[in-house]
Amino acid sequence: MKVLLIGNGGREHALAWKLAQSPRVTELFIAPGNPGTSEVGENVPIGVMEFDKIEKFVKEKSIGLVVIGPEDPLAAGLADRMDALGVKVFGPSKEAAQLESDKWFAKELMRHQSVPTAEARSFSDAHAAEEYVKVHDGPCVIKAAGLAKGKGVTICYRTADALEAIDKILRHRAFGSASERIVIEEMLSGPECSLLAFVDRKNIYVMESAQDHKPVDDGDTGPMTGGMGAYSPTPVITDAMISQIERDILVPVLDGLARENIEFKGVLYAGLMLTTNGPKVLEFNCRFGDPETQPLMMRLKSDLLEVMLAVAEGRLDKVDLQWDPRPALSVVATSRGYPGSYPTGMPITGLKNADAMPDVKVFHGGTKRDGDKVVTDGGRVLSVTALGKNIAEARNRAYKAIEQIHFDGMHYRKDIGHQAVR
Ligand code: AMP
Ligand code: GLY
Repeated sequence: MKVLLIGNGGREHALAWKLAQSPRVTELFIAPGNPGTSEVGENVPIGVMEFDKIEKFVKEKSIGLVVIGPEDPLAAGLADRMDALGVKVFGPSKEAAQLESDKWFAKELMRHQSVPTAEARSFSDAHAAEEYVKVHDGPCVIKAAGLAKGKGVTICYRTADALEAIDKILRHRAFGSASERIVIEEMLSGPECSLLAFVDRKNIYVMESAQDHKPVDDGDTGPMTGGMGAYSPTPVITDAMISQIERDILVPVLDGLARENIEFKGVLYAGLMLTTNGPKVLEFNCRFGDPETQPLMMRLKSDLLEVMLAVAEGRLDKVDLQWDPRPALSVVATSRGYPGSYPTGMPITGLKNADAMPDVKVFHGGTKRDGDKVVTDGGRVLSVTALGKNIAEARNRAYKAIEQIHFDGMHYRKDIGHQAVR
């Protein structure tokens, strides 16, 4: 079967690497891909939002399955377009993708379905939002309601921080069209966990647990990013909690969508905080997480194409996935300045040495080829991922490998997995 994967991040390199291992994949195309994906498939120079070109390519090549990695094309309806063509697609419709693309839609659905989540209010008027935070003195979390690449969240301990965040988002439109509305939430506390599930309308298959690290600096300090590192599984969550989350969160959310005649197929990702009052939802994503996918794909032993086809064809109940019991951990190397503005075009050295280490895989994100060199081309440049007999070993391996790699302005957190190692 010919497969087209849409995207060019670390997540897509990990998905491409795993899909290429399937004996049933005859050709793998990645649009637009990156230097990492070109090692396991054929990159096609089509952007993730160039739907007409994607459609033409799918027809010309008789693609059997389209896998959509990132949220932007999902939110803009690429899955619907592929569906209308009669091509199998892995990824939810535009309507279902609102769970991620509109945080207020997600909040209202959760409220309706009594799904545990932070209390929240929504505002599009800056003045009203300011009045609200002045009256509700105390910590809160302010989020751009639309898609902001993980950067649209500000933790506000003081009213002054909240006023600044409101100004930045609603008045200065810091996140473009994602800035039209904000959600102001109560601040929760507890360990965090990402739970990703394959969903095929009726069936839910929860994957192994993972934990992301969102703030840019060690000790969970500094601004929010798309993710600085992840590992799987995480000891912060027990099997009993996973069952509870499936029953009290995933099932009611899918029921809530179904009530509005919205079907979900693809990956439903719940970002959770494990509070003393039980697990609560921080956010939903309608796709694989980046960087959670990197350790998850290192651990997945089963054929990824088979499970994606099962999702696309609505027979997920027949699937049983095998996971490597060994943990995996991924450290993200970023460009100087990320999540703010950053330079690109910095030559990267040491990639081959790092990738050749046992049980290590270097996944490319923001990289590109420049002659015979690989150079930086984004904020999150690489995710260096390793398996180990325990988290400590996976972590040591990932850090030994990342130490082989250099580029000007390279930054990475030194404490990925700290909660698990402790
Ligand atoms: P989100 O993109 O909504 O998952 O938010 C990014 C990060 O902000 C999360 O991983 C949490 O660390 C933090 N966060 C989001 N919402 C809350 C909340 N209500 N209380 C405390 N922290 C939060
Ligand atoms: N790792 C967080 C995300 O993919 O949104």
